[in-house]
Amino acid sequence: MNRINKLLGVTGGLGCDCAVITDRANVRYLSGFTGSSGYLIISENERLIVTDFRYVEQAGIQAKGFEVKNSAGFKFGEYINKFENVAFENDSVSYKTYLWLNENCKKLSPLGNTILNIRSIKDSEEIGYIKQAAAIANDAYYHVIDFMKEGMTERQVARELEFYMLSHGADKLSFDTIVATGDHGSLPHAVPGDKVIRKGDLVVMDYGCVVGGYCSDMTRTVGIGSVDEDSQKAYNTVLKAQLACLEMIKPEVNCADVHKLSFDIIDSEYPGMYGHTLGHGVGLEVHENPGFSFKHNLPLKPGTVITVEPGVYIPGKCGVRIEDLIVITDDGFENLCTPPKELIII
Ligand code: GLY
Ligand code: MN
Repeated sequence: MNRINKLLGVTGGLGCDCAVITDRANVRYLSGFTGSSGYLIISENERLIVTDFRYVEQAGIQAKGFEVKNSAGFKFGEYINKFENVAFENDSVSYKTYLWLNENCKKLSPLGNTILNIRSIKDSEEIGYIKQAAAIANDAYYHVIDFMKEGMTERQVARELEFYMLSHGADKLSFDTIVATGDHGSLPHAVPGDKVIRKGDLVVMDYGCVVGGYCSDMTRTVGIGSVDEDSQKAYNTVLKAQLACLEMIKPEVNCADVHKLSFDIIDSEYPGMYGHTLGHGVGLEVHENPGFSFKHNLPLKPGTVITVEPGVYIPGKCGVRIEDLIVITDDGFENLCTPPKELIII
């Protein structure tokens, strides 16, 4: 079934005769339109994309099967008035957009996670783009461990990773690159700065890129010179949790159970020092559904692309995170992050 028919199946079930789609990633997913402004009106018989002058021609090229309307002359209130019950993206609309919808639509019904859930199962074209993005990130890792030396700053290493990805086929970065050395690594989302990489440090590198609109995401943690026993123990605990979770992962396994396994292994050694979830779906956005978390009490399905990224964060000492990006297949998974995971000392 195509994407729009899946959406119409849900909106029909909600008793809606129309959906207004405003979320950028959802607009792209459903229509192919990549512009920064515009929305979709979708009903059984109509596919409209409404955008401003800057994007009218682009929408005509990208949004196959959609009628393009220039927002300058489009009377939304008059148009939407023929529908009795309009589905809207209650999880992502701004209050301003909500007021606009509420003022113009006879009745509004929340779509909740509908489109995110449809997006959580990727087709082969989407997986192809994610594989390309992951392959560039893998190559960037090998490049950067050759490049990185004691005495460089986090920022130098981050910019090198980014330059490598952007000059080897990436359209852009998936998110702000994280490079954190020594005690800075205890911040899970540290911002790379002028901190100098020293002998004995663990360096966390978390980065990814976008190809064809689709993200990759990976993390490796490496040691500099030699690392002490405490750092090695932290690394090995995270690696043990990551490998145990990978061992468990296959279709129908409950996402929350996988997270719990990682939590039990790490929290028993480092109470309170692993507070994030094991992983998140990846696609047009770097954080999508489903997640490996206590909240996602649902079975894994083939076609899901998701990270497996346990970590430990020891204030004043170090951080460790090891993150793979995997695709769930009919009988297990394919790991798109190929660099080795034993502790590498540079
Ligand atoms: N790689 C960053 C994150 O998953 O939050
Ligand atoms: Mn991640």
